[in-house]
Amino acid sequence: MARRSLANCRVVITGASSGIGRELALAFARRGSRVLLTARRNQELAAVAAECRQHGATAETLAGDVTDSAFRAAFIERAVALWEGIDVLVNNAGISAHGRFAESDEATLRKILEVNFFAATELTRLALPLLKRSRQAAIVNIGSIIGHRGLPLNSEYAASKFALRGWSESLRAELAADGVDVLLVSPGTTETEFFDHLIAKRSDLPWGDSTAIPAAAVAEQTLRALERGRHEIFPNWRGRALVAANRLFPGLVDRALAKLAAASHNR
Ligand SMILES: NC(=O)c1ccc[n+]([C@@H]2O[C@H](COP(=O)([O-])OP(=O)(O)OC[C@H]3O[C@@H](n4cnc5c(N)ncnc54)[C@H](OP(=O)(O)O)[C@@H]3O)[C@@H](O)[C@H]2O)c1
Repeated sequence: MARRSLANCRVVITGASSGIGRELALAFARRGSRVLLTARRNQELAAVAAECRQHGATAETLAGDVTDSAFRAAFIERAVALWEGIDVLVNNAGISAHGRFAESDEATLRKILEVNFFAATELTRLALPLLKRSRQAAIVNIGSIIGHRGLPLNSEYAASKFALRGWSESLRAELAADGVDVLLVSPGTTETEFFDHLIAKRSDLPWGDSTAIPAAAVAEQTLRALERGRHEIFPNWRGRALVAANRLFPGLVDRALAKLAAASHNR
């Protein structure tokens, strides 16, 4: 298995102003990586960079919207200006909406796909020539358990994370000869601001978040996977159990989820 040292690595991270992205930035900083961070909220981003510097790391920020192609180009140019390249690209920025597909709309679906899927694919396209020149290159895509098993009231999000997973698998095979690893991280429910940032909330979910794990745990497992050259991880064991149950007993899981959907209350 490939071994990778993250010390002095040039790392760019999207969605670094809160949650998993923030914890990833801090975890890379503790390993001695250089980090370039982005998200829309400039103040929060600056605070994360300041925390990274407290760990002795080099940390830079460029605030912007990852769905804007001009911004994506500027972000990659910033990495070139700073370090002449990129070793690790982390596609983490993400959003969601809760509600039945029939009661949602096209704009919500397209927005979620723009942030969770197209921003990641197009940022990666820009970064690829740089990654191919690195001797320890990796692309880290933050997916979800819902990219392995669709859940009710999350259809747009499921579509975006399934797309991210399929694209990650294709890309991994295409880039193997170039020495660029592709790591897909599929967290289950994680303690972050994610559910406060929903772009639409037309239903309450009929399950709680009592099984959520800390974002720092997701970040630490991600860095360990990168160091060990792994290609796929499920940081939350309950999520891994759902994926396994779905493979073995898909009909049973379908019926259980249909019951949960029926029990959901519209807002
Ligand atoms: N929390 C969970 O239960 C969970 C479970 C599985 C997977 N995930 C995945 O983990 C990733 C991180 O989410 P999180 O849980 O850490 O939630 P979060 O705290 O809400 O973080 C989301 C990040 O994405 C950024 N972002 C959103 N839209 C953006 C845009 N248009 N342009 C630039 N940045 C944007 C946000 O920053 P700004 O608002 O400042 O732009 C924020 O930094 C997402 O891909 C999510 O799908 C989360």
